[in-house]
Amino acid sequence: MTDTREAPTATTTTTGRDHFTDFDLDSPEFTADYEQVLGDLVQKCPVAHSDVAGGYWVVSRYDDVRDCAQDWQTFSSEGGFEPGRGGEEGGAKLYPVELDPPYQTRWRTALGPHFGPRAVRSRSDSIREQVTALIDGFVESGETDIVESFAAHLPGRVFFATFLGVPLSDLPFIQTATDNAMRGPMEGRGEAWGQVAGYLDGYLRMRQDEPPRGDFVDVVLAGVEDHDGNPCSWEHKLYVMIDLLAGGIGTTTYLLAGMVQHLATHPEDRARLAADPTLWPGAVEELIRYYGSIVALGRTATKDTEVAGQPIAKGDFLMLSFAAACRDPRVFDDPHTVDIDRKIAVNPAFSFGPHRCIGSHIARLEATISLEEVLRRLPDLRLAEGSTPVYSNSTITRNLDSLRIAFTPQPLGP
Ligand code: HEM
Repeated sequence: MTDTREAPTATTTTTGRDHFTDFDLDSPEFTADYEQVLGDLVQKCPVAHSDVAGGYWVVSRYDDVRDCAQDWQTFSSEGGFEPGRGGEEGGAKLYPVELDPPYQTRWRTALGPHFGPRAVRSRSDSIREQVTALIDGFVESGETDIVESFAAHLPGRVFFATFLGVPLSDLPFIQTATDNAMRGPMEGRGEAWGQVAGYLDGYLRMRQDEPPRGDFVDVVLAGVEDHDGNPCSWEHKLYVMIDLLAGGIGTTTYLLAGMVQHLATHPEDRARLAADPTLWPGAVEELIRYYGSIVALGRTATKDTEVAGQPIAKGDFLMLSFAAACRDPRVFDDPHTVDIDRKIAVNPAFSFGPHRCIGSHIARLEATISLEEVLRRLPDLRLAEGSTPVYSNSTITRNLDSLRIAFTPQPLGP
C-alpha cells in the first residue's frame, strides 16, 4: 500500500458542492462540472462518498478501479450495477453484468467467440451499409443534429439489422422503443423497456423454431448452467439479450457523437486523420478513453475490506468510476485533452477483469467505419452557427443529447 497519497481535502466546484463527501452521480453540479469533478476526485480523493440511494462509495484511481474490478470475490456484481438496484424486486436483470463467476464466466465463454475481433470484422459491410443509410438521410441538407440523425440510431441499427437480421420493416418500431427506453422522458422509460423486452422475447421464440444460424442468438438459446448447475431459465436468456442490447446503445451513441464533436472542433486532427488511415486505430482508442460513456458501475462488498486506505464494510455499495480512471494523470499525461497520438495499453473505459466489455470490438468497428465515412462525406464539417453541445448524466452514463453541425451539402450515395 503506497504512502504517497495526498490526504483527501474538500473540493469546491464552480457550483459550490463538496463532491468528496456529498457526491451524486445525478447532480446537476456533476453534469455541469464533469471534467473538473472527475479530475479532482482522481487527484485528491481516491474514495469519495455519496448519501444517495442508501449511500455509496466512488472509487476513482486507475489502479484501485482495476484492482476492485478484478477482485470479484470481494466486490460482487450481483448487488446490481447502480445504487438502489439490488434484490429481485428491481424488475428485469441485466446478465452477465449483474452476475459473478462462475455463472458469469459460463456466459462469457459461450458468447466470447461471437464478439472477438475477427467475428465482428466479418460484419463490416453491413455496418457500413447502416452508416451510409443514416448519412444519406441528412447529407444533402448542409446542417443536422448529428445525435438525432446519426449517433443515436447507428448502434440500434447495428444490433437489430446487422447482428439479429430483423426485417427492415420492424426497425422503426424497435428503434423507437429502444430510443424511448434509453433517452426518452423518464416517465415513459419503463413502458418502453417493456416493449423492447417483449420484442426480444418474441424474437427469441421465433428463432427457437428455426434452424440455427451459427450466431450468438443460437448461443443464448442453447443457454448455460446457472448458479445451481441447472439449465438456465428462459428469463435469464432474455436478460442476456437485454444486456447485449442495452450495453451497446447509449455507450456507442456517446462515442460517435463525441467523435464528431472532436472532428468539428479540431480541423488539424481532421486533416491528419483524412490523410493518414494508420492514425485511425489510435485515434478511436483515445476517443473511447475520453468519450467513454460509462461514468461508473456498481459492486457490493462481500466482506469488510479497504480501498486506498478507506475502510469498506461488508454490504457497502461501491461505484467504480471508469471515467475517472480514464483521467488518472498517473497513467495518462494531460488526461483532459484528446491526443490522437496517445498510446493506450489498456483502456479503462471498457473496465477490467471478468466483466471487461464484451462489445468493445463492435464499438471500435462502428467508430472506425463512422470515422472513415464522416471524414469522406462531410469533409468540411464544423459546429453549426450558435451550436452548443448539450450534455446530460443519467446515473451510470454521460450523454451528449444534441450537437448541431454544418457542412457543405453533398450528394447521396456511398
Ligand atoms: C464505447 C462503447 C462502450 C463502452 C464505453 C462500454 C463500456 C462497458 C463497461 C465499462 C463494461 C464493464 C461492466 C462492469 O465492469 O461491471 C461493459 C460491459 C458490457 N458491455 Fe460494453 N461498452 C461499450 C459498448 C458495448 C457494445 C457495442 C456492446 C454490445 C454487445 C456492449 C455490451 C456489453 C455487455 C453485455 C457487458 C457486460 C459484460 C459482462 O458483465 O461480462 N458494450 N461495457
